[in-house]
Amino acid sequence: MRDLILGQTLSFAADPFVEGPTAARHETYGAVLVEDGIIRALGPADTLRAAAPDARVTDYGRALISAGFIDAHVHYPQTAIIASWGKRLIDWLNAYTFPEEMRFADAAYARTIAARYFDLTLAQGTTTVCSYATIHPESVTAFFEEAEVRGLRALTGKTCMDRDTAPAGLRDTAQSAYDDSRRLLERWHGRGRLSYVITPRFSPTSTPEQLAALGALWAEHPDCLMQTHLSEQLDEIAWVKGLYPAARDYLDTYEAHGLLGPGGLYGHAIHLEPREIARMKEVDASLIHCPTSNTFIGSGLFDMGGLTSARHRVGLATDTGGGSSFSMLRTMAAAYEVGQLRHRALHPAELWWLATQGSARALRLDDRIGNLAPGMEADLVVLDLASTPAIAQATARADDIWQALFPTIMMGDDRAVTSVWVGGKPVAR
Ligand code: GUN
Ligand code: ZN
Repeated sequence: MRDLILGQTLSFAADPFVEGPTAARHETYGAVLVEDGIIRALGPADTLRAAAPDARVTDYGRALISAGFIDAHVHYPQTAIIASWGKRLIDWLNAYTFPEEMRFADAAYARTIAARYFDLTLAQGTTTVCSYATIHPESVTAFFEEAEVRGLRALTGKTCMDRDTAPAGLRDTAQSAYDDSRRLLERWHGRGRLSYVITPRFSPTSTPEQLAALGALWAEHPDCLMQTHLSEQLDEIAWVKGLYPAARDYLDTYEAHGLLGPGGLYGHAIHLEPREIARMKEVDASLIHCPTSNTFIGSGLFDMGGLTSARHRVGLATDTGGGSSFSMLRTMAAAYEVGQLRHRALHPAELWWLATQGSARALRLDDRIGNLAPGMEADLVVLDLASTPAIAQATARADDIWQALFPTIMMGDDRAVTSVWVGGKPVAR
């Protein structure tokens, strides 16, 4: 059975940070033809109706059809502690995060939160996330099983921490981190739509031995991604310098242990030194911008203008529960606000690209997800661009798609999400 999905369509023929907003393709009366979970055609509604007269038609009218949102850095185990008050990074980890992550020793609790997390994010139109789990292998299993029953393309890995800077009860060892990560990787990586990600939490909670063990694992499995945190807060950077006195900079603590490479995902990456910026560009690593987290935890202002001008690979992410929202619309709005504070007004085309193709590119999945194009997997979000009275009255004045879209970026929430399709099927709500 083929599905013909009608509405306004928004896709990208190129990168708007390179080509400008004309990199985007908008059809006012557009259509997406889907079969066996794959987009087979994209074009004007009339053309595709004529080409596929047998297809089952779902007509979303004036709603906007886009690739589903891709959240490139999250902590699903922090779902229940989102919006915890009053702390900066290190105190926030100790006061809220680590006690909550300890609860994931209970596999049933991990399942409950994984299910809740996917329900919350799907309601926001997010169809792929790249998550940290906890140190417990069961937390990885819970995440993958809940993703699999929903048919989601999803990524996670066991978070590794073996230093006494992490609390007892939330520590592994260099050897057990290697063994558990390898076992989980062999079980889950490439199974259906699931990918395993090698996940040292960050240098302050790992010994050099653990970083080296995970670097060795990555060298054995170079098709896996590796995710970690980098230069989020100044206090954290000073801490890293104290723990790794021989390192040239924070990035070097990873680089020296085999944890810098093209499949590396470096979350936050705010307070970077020139060598770090140059090195990440050289190896084509991915930098993940987490704007609601960076303001909520008080971390700083990511240099989107500078890094994209230098053609770095950048993804966008909520970083829940350090981030204050599950919504990629809210995250685009925060990226816009942070851009304004750095005198770089991000265009709606750039924001949309970051939340879809940019994140897909950062995760090296842009040949499969993050765009509407023939051959891409059919993960879609359908958005009402007049979802509240405040948005509707602003959008009523729009002269083009960007003016019509921007109020939803800045003010939209799950009320704007009309429908979500995962793997070519509409998600029941
Ligand atoms: N750095 C190390 N762990 C974390 C985390 O869980 N959240 C954030 N925001 N930063 C981190
Ligand atoms: Zn994080």
